[in-house]
Amino acid sequence: SLPVTNVQALAETCNSNGVDDDLQVPERYLIKEPSAEEVVAGGDSNCAIPVIDLDRLVDPRSSSSECAKLVSACRHWGFFQLINHGVPEQVIGNLKSDVVEFFKQPLQDKQECAQQPGGVEGYGQAFVVSEDQKLDWADMLYILVQPTESRDLRFWPTRPPSFRNSVDVYSSEAREVGYRLLESMAKGVGAEPATLRAVFQGQALGMRVNYYPPCRQAADRVLGLSPHTDADGLTLLFQINNDVHGLQVKKDGKWFAVEAMDGAFIVNVGDALEIMSNGKFTSVEHRAVIHPTKERTSVALFFFPSSDMIVGPLPEFMKGDQMRYRSTSFHDFMKQYFAEKLDGRKHLERLRL
Ligand code: SIN
Ligand code: FE2
Repeated sequence: SLPVTNVQALAETCNSNGVDDDLQVPERYLIKEPSAEEVVAGGDSNCAIPVIDLDRLVDPRSSSSECAKLVSACRHWGFFQLINHGVPEQVIGNLKSDVVEFFKQPLQDKQECAQQPGGVEGYGQAFVVSEDQKLDWADMLYILVQPTESRDLRFWPTRPPSFRNSVDVYSSEAREVGYRLLESMAKGVGAEPATLRAVFQGQALGMRVNYYPPCRQAADRVLGLSPHTDADGLTLLFQINNDVHGLQVKKDGKWFAVEAMDGAFIVNVGDALEIMSNGKFTSVEHRAVIHPTKERTSVALFFFPSSDMIVGPLPEFMKGDQMRYRSTSFHDFMKQYFAEKLDGRKHLERLRL
């Protein structure tokens, strides 16, 4: 990423001004009003992404029906909430409080983990590739967390002192949850359960902590995270404060605000899995919006295939269907992904046959 202003610091300045005072938010963050066809749905009934129960996925008595539900969620929504995932509350709680502590530090301390020019890991901003693009109202910390050998500790916070251990424990627990889901996804389409798990097992896991400051003067004219699809196979996300809603997913041309149950993970299909499943699962466009007075923090865990994998539709997912995607080396795909501004499904559409 190109170096840009720290948004947390910028927000502190902007938010110290009243709503009616001169607008302090720089032009580079202001997007045009959302277009008329993009109706944001709200309220309980409209934003309920499907709920999947991991206990029921693994219990032989309920596995078939829950796997079918999972497959349907992955196809029609590309998103679901996962309950009974088995990651202890305390493991998540520890990571939550360490993440909160990290962002509370003075800028100078956070910058000990700063991104290097041209790099993707570290504390800073993602996907800033030109001087004139619109910027997201957020800062983030991105690190590779698994396997152990992939870690570049220069970018791992040392404060709070428990941070590294919390990430280590959380990522190894959550990794198993991801693998279980991949098994059930394969099973749900009638493939050998190990098919997908084998692709991801032991490969890199990335963790991105997103910090979205409030924007009192222009919350509806900034975006925390531009519309995009995730490049990976599977993403597992939780929010620090579940009461502040920010995530929205696109379905049938409309944006839906995601409300997650307390303690649930929000899981989504990424580009690599849409391709491997030959479109049986959908990598759905999503974005994050900003609250006028409340900050929001989320922690996303990305499951990547091996970077030298040639990603293409897997035979187990084709079963006589036409091939719908061109194959690509995951390394090249990622290189392209990081070289451009986030923008909807464009990376995927380029590979469609
Ligand atoms: C993401 O798309 O990775 C994060 C969205 C969110 O903060 O909920
Ligand atoms: Fe995402």
